Amino acid sequence: MGRIKETMPDFLGLEEAMKLTQEQNRENHHQFINPELVNLITLVNFDKCFVKAEGTSIWDNEGNEYLDFLGGYGALNLGHNHPEIIAAVESVKLPNLLQAALNPLAGALAKNLALVSPGELQYSFFGNSGAEAVEGALKLARTFAGKTKIVSCEGSFHGKSFGALSVTGREKYRKPFEPLLPIVEFIPYGDSAALEKALIKEDVAAFIVEPIQGEGGIIVPPEGYLKKVRDICTAHNALLIVDEIQTGFGRTGKLFACENEGVVPDILCLSKSFGGGVMPLAAYIATGKVWKRAYGSAENATLHTSTFGGNSRAAAAGIATLEIIFRDDLSRQAAEKGEYLLGRLRQLQGKYPFLQDVRGRGLMIGLEFTQPKQEGLLNKLTGGAVGKLASEYLGAMVAGELLNKHQIITAYTLNNPNVIRLEPPLTVSYEQLDKLLVALDEIFAKNKGFGDMVISSSKTILASLVKKI
Ligand SMILES: Cc1ncc(COP(=O)(O)O)c(C=O)c1O
Repeated sequence: MGRIKETMPDFLGLEEAMKLTQEQNRENHHQFINPELVNLITLVNFDKCFVKAEGTSIWDNEGNEYLDFLGGYGALNLGHNHPEIIAAVESVKLPNLLQAALNPLAGALAKNLALVSPGELQYSFFGNSGAEAVEGALKLARTFAGKTKIVSCEGSFHGKSFGALSVTGREKYRKPFEPLLPIVEFIPYGDSAALEKALIKEDVAAFIVEPIQGEGGIIVPPEGYLKKVRDICTAHNALLIVDEIQTGFGRTGKLFACENEGVVPDILCLSKSFGGGVMPLAAYIATGKVWKRAYGSAENATLHTSTFGGNSRAAAAGIATLEIIFRDDLSRQAAEKGEYLLGRLRQLQGKYPFLQDVRGRGLMIGLEFTQPKQEGLLNKLTGGAVGKLASEYLGAMVAGELLNKHQIITAYTLNNPNVIRLEPPLTVSYEQLDKLLVALDEIFAKNKGFGDMVISSSKTILASLVKKI
């Protein structure tokens, strides 16, 4: 007897999924993904129904245009839906996955990456996410060195898989999953003397560091830090892993931020914009010396692998991304536009003292706010909840104002919610930069000292809590 064909479940088709209402979409996330995340996003009215995106612009289902200054946390250096990246991906007719053969596009991408990477960086491993690149880099470093200790920085962010999380300098994310990788030491970021001390016993496999801390709050280290770090690692036989997952591909005004100081890491971690904002793509690239000692034997050649790593379409996106970055001189664009934006933001800082700090390099910019006073009737009525919200989510509140009143998308940094980040596509226009500047000026002028904004945002939050109950 033949097997009875299963009836087709009541799937949501692709066409239908692209036309879901905001309420239906919210309900799916509520029931099937992460109900608490839905609540958080609803709190600051962040759950719009976006239906189209191009470059720096996004449109909602009512035809309103928004500007994206979040830029996929650094994953959209080329902007949304870059037509040439989509065309490159669609042009691929090769097998997308065929582990039994050497993928020509992966090989070409690795060659191109070696051409543009600093120093002697040569051998690439391809994966699909930043955390995966970091995992691979840590394993490579430990195998190479025959030592297990890793040194990382407080406030750092390297991803949330177990290995990457083990070297991420934020308690909040690490604590619930301990024990993590043993023997990881955290030192203050930007402190080369602390690094020297941590490496003195020569028992460290590697030091992993971001050239500018992204999630830590867009922290730019002191001038010359990375150069000193390079020398200290070399002197104490520790590998230097530079995590450029967020800073890479032109974001800070150079193809890679370590080039700002002429530093060559032993292992460089990449992801985010590598896939042109269309395909998931990540890599670590290492020197021949490191790679060969770790994996350069028949026995060790398959010690670290990834099923989708370097698949044809992702590799095609990577090849096209590198070409576009060089052809359109995106690194220079980031440097020039960043200088303009930083200059204008510093003028705003002069006008509004609660804009405590403006910092960054290229189009990786952070705005830090002074804490508002935690007093007032609403704070008392809510048992201090408003004050707590203000201290924990001030950045989110500014981001909420920018979105709801000015249709500009930004977000606070993960490890420092008092900082909002500006990481627009590197193709952003000067007119769009000016729109952001005008919006910030208006928000700051209207919310002198932020008291009013905290109160109005808190009311939205309280109202949405009431709605939920
Ligand atoms: C510097 C850095 N490293 C690693 C990661 C992790 O990347 P992913 O989220 O793709 O795992 C991030 C993500 O924000 C990052 O900014």
